[in-house]
Amino acid sequence: MLKGKTIILGVTGSIAAYKIANLASSLVKLHANVHVIMTKNACNFINPITFETLTGNKCITDTFDRNFEFNVEHVSLAKSADLFLVAPASANIIGKIASGICDDMLTTTLFAFNRGHKLIAPAMNTNMYLNPILQDNIEKLKKYGYIFIEPNSGHLACGDQGVGKMEEPEKLLEYIINYSLKSEEFKNKKILVSAGRTEEAIDPVRYISNHSTGKMGYAIAKWAHLMGASVTLVSGPSSLTPFMGINVINVKSADDMFNIIKDIYKDFDYIIMTAAVADYTVLKYENNKIKKNDNNLNIELRRTNDILKYLGENKVGNQKLIGFSMETENLIENSKNKLLKKNADMICANSINNKNTGFGYDTNLVTLVTKDDCIELPFGTKEEIAIEILKYIKDMK
Ligand code: CTP
Repeated sequence: MLKGKTIILGVTGSIAAYKIANLASSLVKLHANVHVIMTKNACNFINPITFETLTGNKCITDTFDRNFEFNVEHVSLAKSADLFLVAPASANIIGKIASGICDDMLTTTLFAFNRGHKLIAPAMNTNMYLNPILQDNIEKLKKYGYIFIEPNSGHLACGDQGVGKMEEPEKLLEYIINYSLKSEEFKNKKILVSAGRTEEAIDPVRYISNHSTGKMGYAIAKWAHLMGASVTLVSGPSSLTPFMGINVINVKSADDMFNIIKDIYKDFDYIIMTAAVADYTVLKYENNKIKKNDNNLNIELRRTNDILKYLGENKVGNQKLIGFSMETENLIENSKNKLLKKNADMICANSINNKNTGFGYDTNLVTLVTKDDCIELPFGTKEEIAIEILKYIKDMK
């Protein structure tokens, strides 16, 4: 995902420095070229060898490192990097950056860097974080375009409880992906994505649902956002965390999903219905728990609204409508029928008969079915498939 991207990680003296090893490792796994610059104090918390082993690059610890061709290194590294993240960032380093002090390799390289986004993830004691001098420095740096990744609240290494915990490495990675990959293919476009399953309550303890995890829809929402769209994700229950910058509306039942989408759909250029919406819900919800007895139990179900069909019948302007279908037989024929019946512009047809595809898997095999085309995408991760789907619909007339 990050192939061809050079990322600089600036590490300063904080116990959270050890967490950056995970981040460096995740970045390398995504094929980024990672360079780590450490302050002297950071070396008290984590050994530079850790970063050298993980990144395959020399970890820079000091401007006067004699084993290193340092003389113009801070400039050449600054010139080649796509993004610079300082994490964990101490109050000291934030103060130095805000004052234009360049007295070590980290501050010097950052001062010379202007090719990409500059991100700072503070980590410190609560009182230090809330100190108005630090807050002024943060405000000043924000004015110069620095992006701050706010610390969390919790138990701090000093024993205090409060704000100042560096954001977790997974979230830092998300910021790096966001700020190094964001493009403009869908600039000024609004995309509505539905995802996940719905839950149809029977009584206060039971519901009817399906196996959908939401992975495909969350991947589409993420990439639509990275491609520059303004994205709203209407999600049924899911254990996934949506990518940053997405407007999320959580719903439970098929009726909830229908009602919310009916209210907002007119505002969108593209609507992508990946949600596994229940086709039936219970006719009568029982307010009290249904107690068992020795007889069989019948629960009467009623049809839910077909959201995709409703959208197809009430399309606005040049709105594009994309549905999904999951079949066990006659994949293409059934998907073509759905395309016509629901007046959609495309159906992404999944077969759950293939290996490693469908519910819960990170991979999928999808055929794009339109009025004129039937294109089988190569087997790939749901993220790769999301990108292909978005590229295809971008060029739809
Ligand atoms: N869908 C919907 N509202 C429903 C049911 C489904 O909007 N009440 C949408 C899904 O989000 C998906 C598409 O319709 O984009 C196809 O759903 P699927 O359940 O595969 O097909 P159905 O048309 O419901 O037909 P069947 O269950 O008979 O296969």
